[in-house]
Amino acid sequence: MIEPKNTSRKRGFYVKMRLLHNNNRKSCFCFKYFKWVLWFSLSFYFFAMFLFNHKPNNTNNTSYSSPIISKTTVPQYSKASRALIEHPWREHHHSVDSLNGLKIYVYELPTRYNTDWLTNERCSNHLFASEVAIHKALINSDVRTFDPFEADFFFVPVYVSCNFSAVNGFPAIGHARSLISSAIQLISSEFPFWNRSSGSDHVFVASHDFGSCFHTLEDVAMADGIPENLRNSIILQTFGVKYDHPCQRAEHVVIPPYVSPESVRKTLATADVNGKRDIFAFFRGKMEIHPKNVSGRYYSKKVRTVILQKYGNDRRFYLKRHRFSGYQSEILRSTFCLCPLGWAPWSPRLVESVVLGCVPVIIADGIDLPFSSAVPWSEISVTVAEKDVGKLGSILENVVATNLSSIQKKLWDPRITRALLFHDRTIEGDATWHVLHALTKKMSRSHRRLRLSDE
Ligand SMILES: *[C@@H]1O[C@H](CO)[C@@H](O)[C@H](O)[C@H]1NC(C)=O
Ligand SMILES: *[C@@H]1O[C@H](CO)[C@@H](O)[C@H](O)[C@H]1NC(C)=O
Ligand SMILES: *[C@@H]1O[C@H](CO)[C@@H](O)[C@H](O)[C@H]1NC(C)=O
Ligand SMILES: *[C@@H]1O[C@H](CO)[C@@H](O)[C@H](O)[C@H]1NC(C)=O
Ligand SMILES: *[C@@H]1O[C@H](CO)[C@@H](O)[C@H](O)[C@H]1NC(C)=O
Repeated sequence: MIEPKNTSRKRGFYVKMRLLHNNNRKSCFCFKYFKWVLWFSLSFYFFAMFLFNHKPNNTNNTSYSSPIISKTTVPQYSKASRALIEHPWREHHHSVDSLNGLKIYVYELPTRYNTDWLTNERCSNHLFASEVAIHKALINSDVRTFDPFEADFFFVPVYVSCNFSAVNGFPAIGHARSLISSAIQLISSEFPFWNRSSGSDHVFVASHDFGSCFHTLEDVAMADGIPENLRNSIILQTFGVKYDHPCQRAEHVVIPPYVSPESVRKTLATADVNGKRDIFAFFRGKMEIHPKNVSGRYYSKKVRTVILQKYGNDRRFYLKRHRFSGYQSEILRSTFCLCPLGWAPWSPRLVESVVLGCVPVIIADGIDLPFSSAVPWSEISVTVAEKDVGKLGSILENVVATNLSSIQKKLWDPRITRALLFHDRTIEGDATWHVLHALTKKMSRSHRRLRLSDE
C-alpha cells in the first residue's frame, strides 16, 4: 500500500478522472467551471465592494492589520462593527502549524450532490447552510490536499437541506438518506479510501434539526437513528445534547447554525451608533397558542406557548409571531434575546444574539453548545430551565440587578463572534477553523498518521 509519492499523486488524479468520466459528466464540464468562475467573480466583487465601502474612516492604516481593538471607549455598536470588520479577510492564510499539519481531501462529486442546489439562492444563506459554507471554506483552505493518499480526512460534500418544499418553503429532507447513500456508493466503488477505513476518516455535515438522523421530528429521528453507513464516520452537526441520544451516536463535532456574516455586517452598518437597547426581552418566531399533539410531542414542548400566554401582554416583552426580514435590527435593539427550543434544542438565534450583542436566554434543557472551549457560553448567556419559563420575567430582572453588565462586556469579545461565523475563506479562529481544530483531536482516525507512526 505504501508507494512513492509521485505515483500516488498520479493515482489520485487518475481515480478522480475515473469518477468524473464514469458518470458521463463530461458535457457538463463547461457549465461546472462556468459556475465556479461566476462564483469566484461574485466573491471578488463583494470583497472589493467591502474594501471600498470601508476605506473612508480608515485614517489609521493599522486598524485593519492589527488584531487588537482600540482601547478607547467607543459606543457598543461601533465596537461590535469593529470586531466584525476587524476580523481580517487579509489574515485568511491562517497558519497551518496551528492545525498540526492537518490535510483534508475534498471529493469532487458530480454537481447533482451539491452545487446544482445553489441555483436557489436560499441554499447558501438559510439556517442549515453550514453544509455549503464549510465546503466552500475547505475548497479555499490551506489544509486542502489534492492528493488523497496524503490526506488525514476526506470531506464528502453533499447538500441535503436545500430541497425547499413548494408548499411551505421549508427544506424537505426526505431525500437526504438516499442522496448520501448514493454518494457513499459512488466514492466507495471508485476510490479505495472508504473501504480502507469503513468511512471512519470521512467527514459529513448534517446541519438539519436532528443532525445525522435526518428528520424534523424527534421521535421519528430517534427511531430511524443514524443511517448505518454513516455510523463510523465523523459528522459535523448543529444538533447536540449533553446526554446520550441516538442522533449523536457517531463521532461528531457540534457546529453553530449558519448565519450569514454579510447580513450581520449589513445590520451593524445601519445601526445607530448611539442606539439604546430599548427592548427588554425579544423573541420573533413560531409560537403556537394551541400546539398540535404530533405523535405525543408538542412543538417546543409548549415552552413557546407558555411564553406567549404569560408574557404576551407584558410591556417588557417584545414577542412577535410573524416573519420579518429586518429582525436582526430588532435584536440589536434588545437586551435579552430568547432562544427557546423548537422541534430541536438549537436555534440560529443563539448565533444572531451573540454576534449582535444581545444576551441569549437559552431555554433548551440539556443543549450542548458549539465550540465550548472557545466560547464561554455560561459567562455570556442566561440559561433558564424549561420548567421555569413561567418565571422568565423575574429571572431576567434579577440578572439586570446583578450581573448584566459583566455578561454584556464579555459578549463583545471579537473572538467569540469570530468563532460562530463561517466565512467563504476560513480565517484563524472562525467557525470552520474550529471544525478543523476539532478534527486535529481525532488524528487517531487518520490512516496516514497511523502509517507514519508504524514506520
Ligand atoms: C497608510 O499606508 C500608506 C501606504 O501603506 C502610507 O503611505 C500612509 O502614510 C499610511 N497612513 C497613515 C495614516 O498611517
Ligand atoms: C425533494 O424533496 C421531495 C420531497 O421529499 C422529494 O420527493 C424529491 O425527490 C426531492 N428532490 C430531489 C432532487 O431529491
Ligand atoms: C468497496 O467495498 C464494496 C463492498 O464490499 C465493493 O463493492 C467495492 O467494489 C469496494 N471498492 C473498492 C474500490 O474496492
Ligand atoms: C398525544 O398523542 C399521543 C398519541 O399520538 C397520545 O398517546 C397522548 O395521550 C396524546 N397526549 C395528549 C395530552 O393528548
Ligand atoms: C450571575 O450571577 C448569578 C448569581 O450570582 C450566578 O449564579 C450566575 O452564574 C451569574 N451569571 C453569569 C453569566 O455571570
